[in-house]
Amino acid sequence: MPPKQLSSMQKFAMQQQEAEKKAAAVAAKRAAVAAQQAPASASSSQGGAPKKNIGFLPPGYVAPTSKAAAAQQRKESFEYQFDEHFLVPERIAKAPSALVEAVNDFHYAMMNDHPRNRFYYELLKKHVTPETGVLEIGAGSGLLSMMAAQLGAKWVVAVEGSTEMCRLAQENVKANKLQDKIKVMNMLSTDLTPKHLPERPHILVSEIFGTMLLGESALDYIQDVRERVLRPDTVIIPQMGIQYAVLIDCPTLDSICSVTQWNGLDLSRVNSLKDTASCVFTKKYGFRMSSVPFKRLSEPIKILDIDFAKTNQGFTQLEREFRVKAIEDGTAHAILYYWTAFESADGNEIMSTAPWDTIDNFPRDMQWGQALQLVDAGKEGESEPTALVVKRDEEYSFMCCTSEDHVIVQLNFMGGSSDKHADPLADLEEVNLDDDDEAVEAGGADAQ
Ligand SMILES: C[S@@+](CC[C@H](N)C(=O)[O-])C[C@H]1O[C@@H](n2cnc3c(N)ncnc32)[C@H](O)[C@@H]1O
Repeated sequence: MPPKQLSSMQKFAMQQQEAEKKAAAVAAKRAAVAAQQAPASASSSQGGAPKKNIGFLPPGYVAPTSKAAAAQQRKESFEYQFDEHFLVPERIAKAPSALVEAVNDFHYAMMNDHPRNRFYYELLKKHVTPETGVLEIGAGSGLLSMMAAQLGAKWVVAVEGSTEMCRLAQENVKANKLQDKIKVMNMLSTDLTPKHLPERPHILVSEIFGTMLLGESALDYIQDVRERVLRPDTVIIPQMGIQYAVLIDCPTLDSICSVTQWNGLDLSRVNSLKDTASCVFTKKYGFRMSSVPFKRLSEPIKILDIDFAKTNQGFTQLEREFRVKAIEDGTAHAILYYWTAFESADGNEIMSTAPWDTIDNFPRDMQWGQALQLVDAGKEGESEPTALVVKRDEEYSFMCCTSEDHVIVQLNFMGGSSDKHADPLADLEEVNLDDDDEAVEAGGADAQ
């Protein structure tokens, strides 16, 4: 019996079915990822939500009015992480473990990222005058507020969600004799009202970015104060941010994220558990992308383009398709996520987490690093992931899923122009290669 030839309508219907199947699979994956993440953000709340429901809560934040939260906080103190006979220095024993972890995980590196500090200093210098009042969201050590005061701001108010961090910022402010200029308050920005301020601020400064630009809900928090506390012309520092994603060929990743064989023994079944759904952070794995050889296979995709002075939550659809052109041949082992933040659309101060921009900035890689998502080009239901082999100048389609608060991002391969795994009709087309058109015109044996 001659192989069955498909009419263009049949092909179209199959393509539609395949696309729907992919879309359903993407929706299911998204639901699974959201469910996976939900307990994490709930536990990071450390006992109480702010007035406004925002995904990310700073480590060590405790809602001030909740007794249950205070009890919870005692249980979550750092000393509880150790058996009783272990020695925990008194200075950290009672501090929230999330905060001790956060400070040791990234605060030191962040403060020692001198190009980051310089970026903020230069931007503040452009706008601070003796007439400007400055609001900071997320004082941390108080560094940015102290810069503003050093530059001669009229007044500076900073809010800090973590009680211990707030106390440390206040101590730093005192140590630098800036207490007449700067007030640091222990609260979330969502609890701040204009009554807490001498007047509406002329400048809003914040550095509440994560490894993913919006990973710490920067847009939510900034939009919230924009709507309730700022002036229409308050300068926002930094004003702009772009989240990028780029396909990379990086065989080194394969050596830690998949397996083939050892000594002729086939180990490949274990690849069925390869996680191609999550974005993982390089610093969590203790390596820098700038120290791993890789090749960029595509132009960067702008997956989020934010103007913190204008953009509102809900600015994008939760699922969007991107078409990506390959600029090199290779195997797309992963999608690399990085971001840039910059002063304004026409300004030239820029801060970037791209690995080619952080080669000489070890602290930045240890603070933010980059995010990676492994790629699976296979069809839904396959037991093992399929490599995505791309060809220069060919286009590939990805579905970008974002959580409503944009904290979680995922790119899913949908199809491409040359990869046979990506094209649901490729196998059929191959079978049809030897066909003659007469069989089709006659309707073919199977068609009757
Ligand atoms: C990445 S650190 C930056 C610290 C400091 N601004 C700097 O640049 O060195 C962010 C700090 O903001 C705090 N934070 C984040 N979101 C906040 C919010 N919405 N309200 C108050 N504090 C917040 C965190 O607890 C953390 O201490």
